[in-house]
Amino acid sequence: MSINQLVYISQAVRKMSAADLLAIQRVAKENNAPIDVTGSLFYNGGWFLQVLEGPLATIDALYRKIEKDPRHKNSRVLYKQPATFRTFTRWSMNMTNLEDRQADKYEQLVEVIDAARSDRKIGQASPAVTLLNIFKS
Ligand SMILES: Cc1cc2nc3c(=O)[nH]c(=O)nc-3n(C[C@H](O)[C@H](O)[C@H](O)COP(=O)(O)O)c2cc1C
Repeated sequence: MSINQLVYISQAVRKMSAADLLAIQRVAKENNAPIDVTGSLFYNGGWFLQVLEGPLATIDALYRKIEKDPRHKNSRVLYKQPATFRTFTRWSMNMTNLEDRQADKYEQLVEVIDAARSDRKIGQASPAVTLLNIFKS
């Protein structure tokens, strides 16, 4: 089955605690595993950035559900493309809370969210492409 990747950015409606984020991740993992969706969710400074990977119709339907979630607003798709491989093979939904500053690749990820929210490129590349490249290999 061919895989597509969708990346969006959105604004949290309030400051998310670690517990809030874990609650989102728990449900996401439960729901995504059986529908063959993998991906990663990043949070920093009131912004969510999420990668969804899976069959096109599945990620389209999932995105339509997620964007209606009252915990965030102003969701904007940055990237939607077919992919040869999944980038987050091991995760039905990974979660990186950049607020705790412990994250691997912290500086690069903060830069990606910053560029995405202000609609800026990173060098020649779009923030979504930069994000996917960070986790390739
Ligand atoms: C930023 C954010 C990311 C989310 N990501 C997912 C996801 O990857 N998969 C998912 O099923 N729900 C995700 N959710 C939760 C959905 O919006 C929704 O609350 C949930 O899917 C409902 O689950 P239920 O149908 O089992 O009650 C996310 C919510 C937010 C705020």
